[in-house]
Amino acid sequence: MSSLFSPLQLRDLQLPNRIGMPPMCQYSAIDGRVTDWHLQHYGSRAVGGAGLVIVEATAVLPEGRISHGDLGLWDDTQIEGLARIVRLIEAQGGVPAIQLAHAGRKASVGRGWEAQKTLTAAEGGWTTVAPSAIAFDGYAPPQALDANGIGQVLPAFVAAARRALQAGFKAVEIHAAHGYLLHQFLSPLSNLRTDEYGGSFANRIRLPRAVIAAVREAWPQHLPLLVRLSATDWVDGGWDAEQTIDLCRLLKTDGVDLIDVSTGGLVPGAKIPAGPGFQVPFATRIRTETGLPVAAVGLITDAAQAEAIVAGGEADLVLVGREILRNPHWPLQAAQALGVTAAWPAQYLRALPPGT
Ligand code: FNR
Repeated sequence: MSSLFSPLQLRDLQLPNRIGMPPMCQYSAIDGRVTDWHLQHYGSRAVGGAGLVIVEATAVLPEGRISHGDLGLWDDTQIEGLARIVRLIEAQGGVPAIQLAHAGRKASVGRGWEAQKTLTAAEGGWTTVAPSAIAFDGYAPPQALDANGIGQVLPAFVAAARRALQAGFKAVEIHAAHGYLLHQFLSPLSNLRTDEYGGSFANRIRLPRAVIAAVREAWPQHLPLLVRLSATDWVDGGWDAEQTIDLCRLLKTDGVDLIDVSTGGLVPGAKIPAGPGFQVPFATRIRTETGLPVAAVGLITDAAQAEAIVAGGEADLVLVGREILRNPHWPLQAAQALGVTAAWPAQYLRALPPGT
């Protein structure tokens, strides 16, 4: 009996197994819209057997894009391309989710494989926004959001969630990790505001929590809401595990169904002890101390490792990122490695390894 290949129930939604693909930007959109690249990329991961496929960071406002290649959901014309991805994933028995994001001060840079520096006006760059006018790394300083600017963030997330529902997604993940806008509000290192959105813990969590609660309100009751958090900035005086736990307790009462537990991304140069499964203990702590279901992510690359995480109660779900980019059939091969009958598509049955 494999725990990794047991279903996971979140509200009325059942994931067929405990393997997910985490959101990973493809920087291949045009004006925020899906291109052929996305269709083959998400389609092949669904064929590969991932139970949950989380579509990459999708910007809720144009200025919230990391690069010109980011997907967006600020416009109704962006729905249909995403609906095609939904259909591809569901046709293979997977569950389609989408991450909604705003990059804040980390916006307006090159695509992932281009220079990570602020785009010039000639390159189509734009002025970024953040809780405070503190630059990330060598990027251009952002504009501190005024009351009007803050007022636009929450409805943009809600409108994007409504469009995600129209596209057919079964779960939404709010991106509050990796140093993007909502994480910038959480961390005392990037949020030096003196109004009700900065200073105390209660003030720093105010906007992220309001966004999450508003999306929960707009998202159907029978479908789950996920939140991605960086459990620590890995820097003294920054956002840390204790604050994460306190926030998660509140998010539980707000109706969040699962925390996707990552770390880092707020400041450059943080000393991160990356190694196999290095972020799993943060997920386990949240699961144990709050009772919320969690996803573990980060250097989970091996079937036995993934099985042990779920079987040992360290996490409810594992997300396999770069390894599933290298090998879209990772979940099917993990099933074989664990002695579970793998659901290879009929079209590929004549290609199965001998003895399968
Ligand atoms: C990422 N990651 C990421 N995270 C996120 O929350 N939203 C995103 O859109 C992206 N984009 C992205 C693109 C690419 C190319 C990579 C490699 C990574 C982080 C990703 O979801 C995951 O947390 C990390 O890759 C760690 O997991 P692995 O790769 O060690 O399994």
